[in-house]
Amino acid sequence: MGSNPPVDDWATDYDIFDASYVKDPVPVWNELRDKCPIAHTERWGGSWLPTKYEDLQAFVRMVPALSSKNVLVVSQKREEMEFDPVLAEYGNSAPPITSDPPEHVPMRRMLLPLFSPKATEAHRSFTENLCHQLIDGFIDKGACDGALDYAVHIPAKTIAHVIGVDEDRSDEFVGWIRGLLEEGNTDLEKRNKYNRILRRFFGELVDARKLAPRDDLISHLLAQEINGQPVARKAVVGMCNLLLVAGIDTTWSSIGSALWHFAQHPEHRRRLANEPELFPSAIEEMLRVYAPVTMARLVTEEVQVGDVTFQPGDKVLMNFPAANHDPDAFEDADKVILDREKNRHIAFGIGPHRCAGSNLARMEMDVALRVWFERIPEFELSDPDAVTWAGGQVRGPRHLPFRF
Ligand code: HEM
Repeated sequence: MGSNPPVDDWATDYDIFDASYVKDPVPVWNELRDKCPIAHTERWGGSWLPTKYEDLQAFVRMVPALSSKNVLVVSQKREEMEFDPVLAEYGNSAPPITSDPPEHVPMRRMLLPLFSPKATEAHRSFTENLCHQLIDGFIDKGACDGALDYAVHIPAKTIAHVIGVDEDRSDEFVGWIRGLLEEGNTDLEKRNKYNRILRRFFGELVDARKLAPRDDLISHLLAQEINGQPVARKAVVGMCNLLLVAGIDTTWSSIGSALWHFAQHPEHRRRLANEPELFPSAIEEMLRVYAPVTMARLVTEEVQVGDVTFQPGDKVLMNFPAANHDPDAFEDADKVILDREKNRHIAFGIGPHRCAGSNLARMEMDVALRVWFERIPEFELSDPDAVTWAGGQVRGPRHLPFRF
């Protein structure tokens, strides 16, 4: 990653793995939006990078001309996976996120009730207890790594609890997901290694639940039908895989980014501590400003947007994070306003693939921040230079040295 040639011209040669971009992409998006709102690069297999809110809104609806069959920013050819029996069976299939119509809708419908506001609220007390236990573990030291001692465990243990897999193995799950999404972003051998581990894990679990159903999410998915037929095993394995992958890195990043922000902005930190009624709008503002997720689309038919003609085989990055900073869509777009009234951010995407887990993500953020502020209202970065970020598909802090 670090050895890539530096970027001279972001409009024609951007690099989403460039260290400065991973650390702070906002200046690049702002420059591009004025100069070249849909940038292009040949790096990492080539792709287009839109930066305007209205373009993102248009792109997500161009289905299936912009297909979700390949949502990875750096992709691998299907033939290259054939040598491996596990990958040959599954590829990167993770419905509904990797499905186009008509397959997409029934798969999505299966998941939505499991992540409704009511279904999600049932997990609130689990998450609250967890946050308190985590803080009990380090509060007396007056210091912690906000990313590794706190933020990461909240989505990892909560999604394990929701899916019905062993919460005590959450560190292992995090290792797999980091392997897949961080190292595996650009290192395809690593990606395949962790993809294989995840598929095997869920394959075995799905087979076990088929033989002996339980009152859990996997058994529930196995009991569903599509067009009168039981859901395919491969689809259930893919869905479970998606829930674990989508459930951990994303929310870890959002909780971490919010803590990073409040650690450095005493005026915001104190306002939130004194006006807890601001939590809902402050969380939406954190999601807007530090939106972590960029997904890709594969062009399947020639389409024209603005001055750009996209050809079949091209890749377009759904740069939801940049759209959230578009001054045509948000007043004072680069300012953090904890009580922002009009905030139609698209951190959870938009259109047919809009995040199915947004209620769970919001609940986890709400609990994580409320419990933190209740126990540790005053905190700061002990070593700002030691903060590290992951980027690419999911952007968020991975080391946050705090003292309090
Ligand atoms: C702050 C945390 C999160 C953010 C920012 C986020 C963001 C996103 C985005 C941008 C998409 C759209 C992808 C696309 O258009 O290709 C998406 C889809 C999805 N997310 Fe999330 N997500 C978060 C948390 C979660 C959690 C906790 C789950 C847990 C189950 C989850 C499950 C999903 C699923 C299943 C989809 C696919 C929906 C479909 O294709 O119909 N997400 N998410």
